[in-house]
Parts: sequence; C-alpha cells; structure tokens
Amino acid sequence: MSVVSTFCKKGGVGKSTFIGFLAHYYATLGKKVLIISADDQNSIFKIFGVEEKIFDTNDNYLEFWLAGHAELGDILIEARENLYLIKTLNTDKLSMKLTLERSQEKIIKKLIVDCSSYFDYIFIDFPPSSNRLTEILLDFSHHILIVVGLDSLGLGGFFNTIQYFIDNDIDLTKIKYVLPNGYSKNRRAPKVSLEKLQEQAKEFTKSATVLPALQEKSIIKNLQAEGISVFDVTSLERYDQTNKDLLQKDLLELFKLINLE
Ligand SMILES: Nc1ncnc2c1ncn2[C@@H]1O[C@H](COP(=O)(O)OP(=O)(O)O)[C@@H](O)[C@H]1O
Ligand SMILES: [Mg+2]
Repeated sequence: MSVVSTFCKKGGVGKSTFIGFLAHYYATLGKKVLIISADDQNSIFKIFGVEEKIFDTNDNYLEFWLAGHAELGDILIEARENLYLIKTLNTDKLSMKLTLERSQEKIIKKLIVDCSSYFDYIFIDFPPSSNRLTEILLDFSHHILIVVGLDSLGLGGFFNTIQYFIDNDIDLTKIKYVLPNGYSKNRRAPKVSLEKLQEQAKEFTKSATVLPALQEKSIIKNLQAEGISVFDVTSLERYDQTNKDLLQKDLLELFKLINLE
C-alpha cells in the first residue's frame, strides 16, 4: 500500500483536481483507492459530484474515526467503483488535540496501517494551510507531489512549501514529483514561471522529477462544475467530448512518468 499526497502551501493551484485525476485513474485499473480529505473544504467531493454526501452523513468523518467513535466502514463514502472518500470537518480542533496529546499520533498511524488491508492506495488531499495534522500526514506519506501554479504567486507557493518542510523537519526527499499546472503557450507568464520552477527545483528538490506541465484547460472547470470525472464513461456534447478525450490522453501520458510503488 502506498500513501500519496498532493501538497502546496498555496490554494487554488490544482492539488485536489490532480489527486482526483490520479486516484480515479488507479481505481479504473481495478485498484482499491481511498482519498482522505485533510481539507475542511472537502472540495474533492465536489470534483466527483458527490457533494450531497458530505451533508447526508453528518457524524461520519475523519475526526470521529480517530476518536474511536466510528469504524472505518462507517465513514467511507463511495464516489465511484473502487474509489472511496473520507471527509473532515474540523481539522483545527483535531490538530490542537494532536499537539496536546502526542499519543494521538500513534492512533492515526495505526488507522492508516489498518487501511492497508483494504486499500492499495491512500491519497491525501491537503489544504494550503498547515497544522499538526498536516505535519503528521505528510510524514506518513510515501510519495509527495507538489503542485505548482504557473504564475508569480504560484512560484512563491513552491518556495513557501520548501521552507515549510525545512522548518518542520519533514523529509524533502519524500517529494517525488513536482507538477507545474496551468501552462498556456499563448501567455508569457506561465512560460517564464515554468523555466524558473525547473531551475529552482534542481536546487531545492533534487530527488524529485519535474513533470511536464499540465496545460490550462477550461474543460477541467467545466467537468468539475458538472461533477463529471475525466475517467467517467459519459457522452458529452461534441465539443466537450473532444476536449475531455484530449485531457484524458494528456493525463495518461503524464501518468506514465509517475511511479507510486
Ligand atoms: N490545468 C487547469 N486548467 C484549468 N483549470 C484548472 C486546472 N487545474 C485546476 N483548475 C481549476 O482551478 C481551480 C482550483 O483547483 P483545485 O484543484 O481546487 O486547487 P487546490 O486544491 O490547490 O486549492 C478549480 O476550479 C479547478 O477546476
Ligand atoms: Mg484543494
């Protein structure tokens, strides 16, 4: 079992989007996949069009499980075949508890280990903010993928992330991939940002592979607005269908470069 995380200390760069792509892809290969949302916004639910399930199951969330008030089976929400989600509601409170009671860390570790008998992959969708919970979950991650938005602010997010790892003694070599997101060949800013990122990654994340940039594509937002995943078998109106197929093709090329074993 592998624990895979998307992280960046900046919001809106595509962390949830990309982990959704990756997780669903592995689920379509027949792997058992869990996505833990460590972000109170639980935007991964919207991405899969199962937002109503956040409210349907009021008590069943990550913190309840950690406190021993729920079993794993109670808090899993099925989003697709082989793909399950866990929501969170109050990570700040949980983090405070984790800071005050170090023994709680062991509970999280045990629960993650328990998950390995059910799941082939655990994906963790992080918020841009950080607290004790993020530190612990990053520490449990085998593969960390940093998603960087291709603009001047995005690059700042990359540096803040490196700084955060250093400040909190999180192993930088866990960063296996850096994904530049939002490339556009018609605009100057993303090109310049990509060049800078490639240069900086050589210096700060030596052990990571910088993936080819994912293009800025309006189909990504359009599909999310409908709760449709790029790996869903659906028939869309012709223009959207073509763009969905192209996005899927790009992602499959990208995934060839990613090894999560
Ligand atoms: N390559 C892309 N092209 C166009 N829109 C994108 C792309 N990647 C992400 N988005 C959009 O950007 C917004 C933020 O993405 P999200 O994955 O929620 O970011 P984060 O999890 O880092 O906050 C969403 O509306 C998403 O649809
Ligand atoms: Mg997110």
